[in-house]
Amino acid sequence: MKIIEKQLETILAGTIRKVRPDAPTGKLFFTKTNDEQFGDQQTNFAMAASKELKANPKQLAGEIVEALASDPSLTKVDIAGPGFINLTLSERFIADEVTKIGREEYDFSFLDRQGTVVIDYSSPNIAKPMHIGHLRSTVLGDSLKRIYRWLGYTVVGDNHLGDWGTQFGKLIVAYRRWLDRDAYQKSAIEELERIYVLFGQAAEADPSLEEEARAELKKLQEGDPENRRLWQEFITLSLAEYNRIYDRMGVKFDTYHGESFFHDRMPAMLELLIEKGLAKESEGALVVFFDESEKLHPCIVRKQDGAFLYATSDLACLQFKRETYTLNRAVYVTDERQQPHFKQIFRIARMLGWNEQLDHVWFGIMRFGDEKFSSRAGNVIKLDELFTEAVRRARLVIEEKNPELPAEEKAAVAEMVGLGAVKYADLSQNRISAVSFEWDKALSFDGNTAPYLQYTHARIRSIARKAEETGRPADPDAQITITTPAERRLAVQLLGFPTAVLKAAEGYKPNLIAEYLFELGQRFNTFYNSNPVLKEGDAVMQSRLALCLRTADVMKEGLNLLGIAAPERM
Ligand code: ARG
Repeated sequence: MKIIEKQLETILAGTIRKVRPDAPTGKLFFTKTNDEQFGDQQTNFAMAASKELKANPKQLAGEIVEALASDPSLTKVDIAGPGFINLTLSERFIADEVTKIGREEYDFSFLDRQGTVVIDYSSPNIAKPMHIGHLRSTVLGDSLKRIYRWLGYTVVGDNHLGDWGTQFGKLIVAYRRWLDRDAYQKSAIEELERIYVLFGQAAEADPSLEEEARAELKKLQEGDPENRRLWQEFITLSLAEYNRIYDRMGVKFDTYHGESFFHDRMPAMLELLIEKGLAKESEGALVVFFDESEKLHPCIVRKQDGAFLYATSDLACLQFKRETYTLNRAVYVTDERQQPHFKQIFRIARMLGWNEQLDHVWFGIMRFGDEKFSSRAGNVIKLDELFTEAVRRARLVIEEKNPELPAEEKAAVAEMVGLGAVKYADLSQNRISAVSFEWDKALSFDGNTAPYLQYTHARIRSIARKAEETGRPADPDAQITITTPAERRLAVQLLGFPTAVLKAAEGYKPNLIAEYLFELGQRFNTFYNSNPVLKEGDAVMQSRLALCLRTADVMKEGLNLLGIAAPERM
């Protein structure tokens, strides 16, 4: 099925060909009206085309409106302001379109989906526990991956692990001196973190330790077998822990190409930069300088001591992506502090003549309103602890709302609600702004929260169950008819789903899907409070039940795009 905007564009293009065969139809597009009283959809075509046609926009709009008026999919067509054309869809048309939801696939053939979209997200640094700072990248990246896949793109989710940095020299030294075997056995990451911190303290008193760590790092990077073995062990143990958390979160990756993966490519990358005249020696280091107008700091790609840097691995990584995939685009999801880094990388890519679309999807910091959590040193709330706390709290809420639920189901639902609440608190915000997280707000069943949306979904499923129990199961071929204003508002919202997803993809803004779902939830609840379903006679009952079920399906699908599960009962 075609999305509404595209259908209207086809209708309008046909009309224009009749009234103004010379008009350009390339600039033709529709958007939802801001205010329902002006109709459902709006186009500024008359204004956009008036210049080229040397016509008065209002008059041009008038001609179009007259010709459009008889179209059976519209009940009202009028002109607003300087020449906007506002359309009101007919109830018949809305009902027919809503009926198609779930039966026909959406047609997104107008998108340029050639090649592969590579999304780099989460990307923690090895041997450190995943903490709250990793939440947004993980959750945002995962959602974007789901969104792009849903739209039919080929997507590769990549975890660009920090597995090659200076921390390894220090860890190797610390490991040999201070490792507590038992603790390491119990929780490798925590023990590694402990000895890493210990190293920092010890090195302050004894700077020769830093020297030692550098030597170990060098040995590692040159392939010393013992250091390699330790390094591999740190990675394996860290990944086991990360994957446990990813599993809990329902987050998956297609590749784990960490910084080390690009080590062997780095010398050739530097050669290329030198050969193209982009990198120059400067005080023993190799540096890319930018034009003054770029307002970018020079980018060091090799240090005096010969070590490669973060930028070097990202350049080699991008080169690898270009060679391995036909790139549709490369997307990087990190916090706002990495903006200068990616500006440099993207600029160098252009200087090399690499012309693929490159997008840095950055986000603001997440803060915690909760005293207990925020008072712990800095921003190091461990993700695992955060989820456990969320699930514990969710469990209490469910216990109170639905004590009859079997214990096992309660636990499963608490997991979905707890994680959903945390993810949604993040994804429902504009990613550019700093987010402040508050438990009570995130876990509330009212307002713009995951539990509210999950509950709306479960409520609909329970209506369907009740219909079955009373011997009037939903008819899969039910004819939907739109008679009440609440039905209409709900149905129109349902039709807007694919457009909301498109917008979310376009701006890398899952919050637009959250906004959409919240509006859907509200419209559903208004509908359900004033339009009885199960009390009605068969025709109305089946039509309304069909509308309910479409709502549940869209809600579930939308939540899924945010990486949030929708329980059947809660
Ligand atoms: N490991 C980095 C960090 O924790 C994030 C890596 C992001 N991706 C990249 N290709 N640079 O800050």
